[in-house]
Amino acid sequence: MMDRFKQKTVLITGAGGAIGRATAIRLASEGANLALVDLDQLSLQQTKNILPASCLAKCYIVDIADQAAVKACVAEVIDAFGQIDVLFNNAGMVCDASPMGEQNLANWKRVMEVNVYGAMMFMDNVAPHMMAANSGAIVNTASVAGIRAGAGGNAYSASKAALINMTKTAACDFGKYGIRVNAICPGLVESNMTKPAFDYARNKGIENRLGERCELRRYGHAYEIASVVAFLASDDASYITGQSLAVDGGNTASLNLPNMKY
Ligand SMILES: NC(=O)c1ccc[n+]([C@@H]2O[C@H](COP(=O)([O-])OP(=O)(O)OC[C@H]3O[C@@H](n4cnc5c(N)ncnc54)[C@H](O)[C@@H]3O)[C@@H](O)[C@H]2O)c1
Repeated sequence: MMDRFKQKTVLITGAGGAIGRATAIRLASEGANLALVDLDQLSLQQTKNILPASCLAKCYIVDIADQAAVKACVAEVIDAFGQIDVLFNNAGMVCDASPMGEQNLANWKRVMEVNVYGAMMFMDNVAPHMMAANSGAIVNTASVAGIRAGAGGNAYSASKAALINMTKTAACDFGKYGIRVNAICPGLVESNMTKPAFDYARNKGIENRLGERCELRRYGHAYEIASVVAFLASDDASYITGQSLAVDGGNTASLNLPNMKY
């Protein structure tokens, strides 16, 4: 196994969720020490419990939309680990799927606060430490919903599109300090967030139809997202910054017209 993250500290938000947990497992297997951040204490602890004993991991219960809490969290992580080499801004939430004309501003605000401001505040607070070190890698979890419409609701799509663009502006700000910033855009992956779709399909006996519109004709697995995060966060991606990479089985590669798959 590679040891690309040996003696590196990685801060993962949404570490209690499927993609955050799979990434924690992947990075721990490559030698990383981990600062695990989530709102949900139980799932966060479950992630910590399945990591190998060799991995120094600490849990931080934080609402990433809370400015003071984000600031305090980054300070505590620096105190405990001395540095943050990699930031994986991964926590996120979906919203209701109501159409335009029936939008709820309170929902929009919360989605923006979590999916956009949360990621921005972590980048903003981690930046001085990475700048002082003249290195660092940031990976933001956007979504195919930030590229195309049709998944996760209006506010969710808008928030992920904002995150894709914020990835580029941050990459421009940080480039001269040797800090790279990239985004991943996962397609459909089984997690708490997508549980309703999976439950529905399984109850109807049509699980095989999930992901069938992707060119690979299947949905993705959290470990397949984690391996891409590991690549972008590692020195193997040392000349990649300001990019967003769809990890979606080819879903956004095609026009995806109905009845055109055979
Ligand atoms: N699962 C998919 O199909 C899919 C597709 C594209 C993008 N994504 C994105 O991947 C990321 C991870 O989602 P997942 O699929 O692992 O879902 P998940 O629900 O398993 O994980 C999301 C995690 O984020 C945490 N979280 C939510 N709001 C938070 C807040 N305010 N503060 C702190 N933590 C908070 C949750 O507690 C949860 O543990 C999200 O940003 C999501 O939008 C997921």
